[in-house]
Amino acid sequence: MNEQLSFLCNWVIAPRRVAAIAPSSRALAALITRGISAADAPVLELGAGTGVFTRRLVAVGVPQDQLVLVESGPGFARRLRHEFPSSRVLQMDAARLGGLDLFAGTGAGAVVSGLPLLSMSSLQVARILKGAFSQLRDGGAFYQFTYGPGCPVPRAVLERYGLRARLVGRTFANLPPAAVFRISRKAVATRLF
Ligand SMILES: C[S@@+](CC[C@H](N)C(=O)[O-])C[C@H]1O[C@@H](n2cnc3c(N)ncnc32)[C@H](O)[C@@H]1O
Repeated sequence: MNEQLSFLCNWVIAPRRVAAIAPSSRALAALITRGISAADAPVLELGAGTGVFTRRLVAVGVPQDQLVLVESGPGFARRLRHEFPSSRVLQMDAARLGGLDLFAGTGAGAVVSGLPLLSMSSLQVARILKGAFSQLRDGGAFYQFTYGPGCPVPRAVLERYGLRARLVGRTFANLPPAAVFRISRKAVATRLF
C-alpha cells in the first residue's frame, strides 16, 4: 500500500492518535532535521508513522542501526520494521520511555518527535518530555513539530523540567503549514567558587 493511503487508513482507524490526514512533507522533514548530523547519533524518533522523518535522518548521515523508532500504531510499526530492518522499532506509548535505558549509557544526541502533543493532556506531555530527556545526553535536543502558533509543550512543563524552547522555523510546504521547535535543557549557571 502506498504511503499516503496507508497514512489515511491509520487515521480512519485512530484519528486522535494519528492527528493528521497526510504524512509530513519532505520540506517539514528537512526543517525538523536541519540541526541534526551523524555526530548526533544515536537518535530517538517518537511517532515515526510512515517514516518520513526517518528517511531524512538516514539521508543526513545517521546510520539506520543508530536509530530507535517509537510508534504506538501496530500498522505503522510493521511498516517501519520492513523499511528500516536495522533500526530498533519499539511499538509502545512514548509516555512510557522513563526508566528504559535505550542507549546503554551513552545517551541519544537528538530526539525527533512527530507526536500529536496538542491532542494530549499536559500530564501525558510531561511524561513524554521527562522520558525523552532521560534518554538524551548532555547538549542533546528534542525537536518537535506543531500545526499550532506556539510551542506545543505547555510552559509549566518546560519550567518543571528546566527546559527552554526556541523556534527553528516554519514551512508552508506542508498540509497544514507547520512549525518546528527545538527544546533543550537550560544552561546551569557556572559556579565561580
Ligand atoms: C501526526 S503523525 C506523524 C507521523 C510522521 N512522523 C509524519 O510526520 O508523517 C503522529 C504519529 O504519532 C503516533 N503516536 C501518537 N501517539 C503516540 C504515542 N503516545 N506513542 C507513540 N506513538 C504515538 C501516531 O500513530 C502517528 O504515527
